[in-house]
Amino acid sequence: MSLDKVKLLSLPKIPDERGNLSFFENEKQIPFTIARSYWIYDVPGGQIRGGHAYKELQEVIIALSGSFDVVLNDGKDEVKFTLNRSYTGLYVPKMIWRQLENFSTNSLALIVADQPYDVDDYIRSHDDFLTMKN
Ligand code: TYD
Repeated sequence: MSLDKVKLLSLPKIPDERGNLSFFENEKQIPFTIARSYWIYDVPGGQIRGGHAYKELQEVIIALSGSFDVVLNDGKDEVKFTLNRSYTGLYVPKMIWRQLENFSTNSLALIVADQPYDVDDYIRSHDDFLTMKN
């Protein structure tokens, strides 16, 4: 798996003077069936989340509020996305090293994934990740 499979998804945005609305559905805006959603919030300044890869899991990451950076590495190349729009999703396939950092105050990261939580799907050692990639 390489970084060319990573993509930014433009989610629908229904503008309204009462407040904007965005949404996603399985297999439509989200390119898989969601098995799990979780969110990261109240991140103290300077903290880093993630710092691992998944053997099978694919995910979409959305900055519902505030901003943060997602750093992705496929073992060869690295790319950094700054997410700061609640209608933009970042699709991350399996076997990509990913780290979330530079969280703004009150930022809220929503992650939807195609797998339930499975500790055995995590690759937490970067050396192991590189070995599996090569
Ligand atoms: P983890 O994915 O390791 O977060 P990070 O990579 O940012 O350090 O999750 C942190 C803890 O939360 C870990 O003990 C497992 C637990 N957890 C769940 O129980 N279910 C979940 O869906 C997630 C994402 C984490």
